[in-house]
Amino acid sequence: MNQVSTQAVNPLRDPADRRLPRIANPCGLVLFGVTGDLARGKLLPALYDLANQGLLPVGFALIGFARRDWTVDQFSDFVEKSVRARCRTPFRETSWRQFSSGFRFVQGEFSDAEAFGRLAETLRDVDETQGTGGNHAFYLSVPPSASPVVCEQLAASHLATPPEGSWRRVVVEKPFGHDLESAIALESVVGQVFPQESIFRIDHYLGKETVQNLLALRFANEMFEPLWNSHHIDHVQITMAEDIGIAGRAGYYDGIGAARDVIQNHLLQLMALTAMDEPIAFNASDLSREKEKLLSAVVLPRELGLHTARGQYAAGNQAGRSVIGFHDEDGIAPDSVTETFAAIRLDIDTRRWAGTPFYLRTGKRLGRRVTEIAIVFKTVPHVPFGPASGVLAPNALVVRVQPDEGVRLRFGAKVPGTAMEIREVSMDFGYGNSFTQASPEAYERLLLDVFLGDPPLFPRRPEVELSWKILDPVEEYWASHEAPEPYAPGSWGPAGADQMMARDGRTWRRP
Ligand code: BG6
Repeated sequence: MNQVSTQAVNPLRDPADRRLPRIANPCGLVLFGVTGDLARGKLLPALYDLANQGLLPVGFALIGFARRDWTVDQFSDFVEKSVRARCRTPFRETSWRQFSSGFRFVQGEFSDAEAFGRLAETLRDVDETQGTGGNHAFYLSVPPSASPVVCEQLAASHLATPPEGSWRRVVVEKPFGHDLESAIALESVVGQVFPQESIFRIDHYLGKETVQNLLALRFANEMFEPLWNSHHIDHVQITMAEDIGIAGRAGYYDGIGAARDVIQNHLLQLMALTAMDEPIAFNASDLSREKEKLLSAVVLPRELGLHTARGQYAAGNQAGRSVIGFHDEDGIAPDSVTETFAAIRLDIDTRRWAGTPFYLRTGKRLGRRVTEIAIVFKTVPHVPFGPASGVLAPNALVVRVQPDEGVRLRFGAKVPGTAMEIREVSMDFGYGNSFTQASPEAYERLLLDVFLGDPPLFPRRPEVELSWKILDPVEEYWASHEAPEPYAPGSWGPAGADQMMARDGRTWRRP
């Protein structure tokens, strides 16, 4: 397979210098599922934001592929609406004109060979008119069941094979299968069509600035790593809480649930980055090797009933508004046992982590939208100040992934006055206070990396499969046990989640 460097060539730039803006060489992006929620809400605005910052090449083409019988102007109107509604940077006519001049639209079904013939013609056309030079990425923003047929059609129409001196890449959106078996089946179809180095699996959490900052925090500083082990850390809590419900995505969500939707990918990736050893270098294979090693060492508790919890949001009041329950959502069967909240305790069988549990939880319609990683330290073995100092809370280092991106260190300090009273205080680093530039959206970063062929922020096949290996026994256990417990909207999940922590003598943080 002929892979060429896609970094824009500028003799004054050192390609190893990651501080310089990276601009891709001319290329095209074929978006399958262009009318879907993800494309409208995230991908199209992110592409515009890249264009608006001058990070897309002048010769860039966006090719929408969908069932609708649209002209290119209708497609362009659709993209414009999505961009205007969700772009992060200001809408500028000049950027829009430049960006939209490379739009094309191909109408067809995923199973229609003729439509892929028309796609091939369109790509030849943009290679000539936009100068995309045969470089094309295919973004599968489609249900997992549709990915194999799209890959097969790409192979049959010879679109997966790059002409000499150019590249072809495929971008696969989560969920990567439904369990280990289906993930292996999906991977093998995609892997027969594209070589591994051309497959970009998207876990958008890895594109978030704060998630990348976790690596900076751990490995660009001296003071944390010596404490980063079970001698000092009591446990770790990784929370991804959302205040929204399923937001009209019943078709996708029912039968999938919180654990498959979020724990299998985002939270296990966060756990791997939090707990892995230092990679030799910041490149895809070194990073992946450490994540794989860590995920291979994860063990589930023996008694899954005691150390996991799941729930479904009930109807009720949330922030002064009455909201419907999961069972009343459009498209959800009244007896659905799909969970909207999931919590799991995981242990890591390594010298560094034996004895330090990791608690992962996620849910919809919780108290607030927040994603954080809380490293909770052990309490001090001895306090010399006597009972008047009060009960000391353990130190905690909290990496706030979103919102209010930053890092907070919680520790005890003396209350001013004549007594030696200690109270918990915090030291904060906030992105908003420390840096002037706003963080890019995760999809901006990841799309750019696809065009550049830069893979460190994309999970590799073994990570995906190891994550299913961890989750499958939990799903099997849940499938043969009682239905999820209801929880009140605006709460922090079902009672079972608190009981699961209480059994270990711990409590969840209320972020
Ligand atoms: C997606 C899940 O991967 O992440 C959604 O499928 C969830 O259910 C979303 O709402 C949350 O992403 P973010 O970036 O808003 O935290």
